[in-house]
Amino acid sequence: MAAEDIVLVDDDRVIQKMVGGFLERRGFNVRNASDGIEALELIRERVPDLVITDVRMPELNGIELTARMRSHHRTAGVPILMFSELITAPDALAGYAAGADDYLPKPFELEILEAKVQSLLRRSAGASAGANRGKVILFAHAKGGVGTTCLAVNTAILLAAQSSRPVGLLDLDVEFGDSAVYMNLHPHLTLADLKAAPGVPVDEELFEGFVTESGSVRLVVGSDVPERAELVTLPAIQLAIDRLTATCQYVLVDAPASFSERTLTALDTSDLICLVTSASLPSLKATRRCLDLFNKIGVSPRRVRLILNYSATHPVDIDGAAGVLGRNPDFVMQKSETLDQAVSSGRPLVTSDPSDPLVADLRKLADAIVASVSVTADRTS
Ligand SMILES: Nc1ncnc2c1ncn2[C@@H]1O[C@H](COP(=O)(O)OP(=O)(O)OP(=O)(O)O)[C@@H](O)[C@H]1O
Ligand SMILES: [Mg+2]
Repeated sequence: MAAEDIVLVDDDRVIQKMVGGFLERRGFNVRNASDGIEALELIRERVPDLVITDVRMPELNGIELTARMRSHHRTAGVPILMFSELITAPDALAGYAAGADDYLPKPFELEILEAKVQSLLRRSAGASAGANRGKVILFAHAKGGVGTTCLAVNTAILLAAQSSRPVGLLDLDVEFGDSAVYMNLHPHLTLADLKAAPGVPVDEELFEGFVTESGSVRLVVGSDVPERAELVTLPAIQLAIDRLTATCQYVLVDAPASFSERTLTALDTSDLICLVTSASLPSLKATRRCLDLFNKIGVSPRRVRLILNYSATHPVDIDGAAGVLGRNPDFVMQKSETLDQAVSSGRPLVTSDPSDPLVADLRKLADAIVASVSVTADRTS
């Protein structure tokens, strides 16, 4: 196994040498940076397993570095250990508030530092590993209003009916999320209410307060009103995915029509991406650009399922749609005459009208998801 990679950030060369040398002797790979700017360059080259940073530095201090890392989907989950000569509580709290995971006042025993490093690495490995963890399926779309939430909600219910464990549904449309509306649920808490300092684990019991259950579906919503959207941090999203995958067989993420850092955070952890398009020309063209984007950012086509949803009133036919998309869709969902009625009554189609032809298509999709994720373990590409 390759040595775990640590970026050590301190403007004091003596500390760099002493701490870096010690960690290298303990078998870690250490890359040194003298300030936050240099650290970000190293992190951009290769995302490390852990960052240890001083607080006070000339260019971009440790708190700013932490805040920058927590706002980017690739680095939001990297454990950060801060050390500082400032042992005042406000400094430590500022570090935690920015998203640091642990804090060590200087001077410190090197053995204590190692113990903290080991514990943070274990915790972060534990959060992402585990054969028993649920699989994450991202429902994404490039153009709004194409039926993504309807498909995600109904697929979640179908999957829950055939799974031994519950199914999670995470609504990441932090401005105008409506999964709860489609299920006639009224969550008390949203991820915008997650007051705990970013990076600090919320205990399981507390997290249950953010879950609204309907049968075997466990719903967590990002935010209830658009003005609170900004309060939904990337670590809160990671925490929600982490907690849901611990209790659920599948976790479906209903993303908004934007590839924000929040969507990318979910995309990074997803085992499968269901990309939904309607059969209207603007949606098809946007979806084509989205497939190109996936290519550019290294998302393997094996992880993507393209869903052509006949929700539009004047649709392009399948051949025409495939021509614009540059490939055939993996699933075609036919138009439902009763879906709107189900939506307006707050009853998901699969329960209100199981004989609707769209439900048969949804069942095929649910079956294919089960088959795909049981063989897909590669989240790295
Ligand atoms: N197969 C279908 N047949 C008929 N109507 C459909 C179909 N799929 C979706 N719709 C309708 O499309 C509308 C939009 O659906 P939905 O809210 O799920 O879209 P969305 O892609 O999640 O939108 P947003 O971008 O706002 O999140 C709903 O009124 C729904 O009833
Ligand atoms: Mg939606």
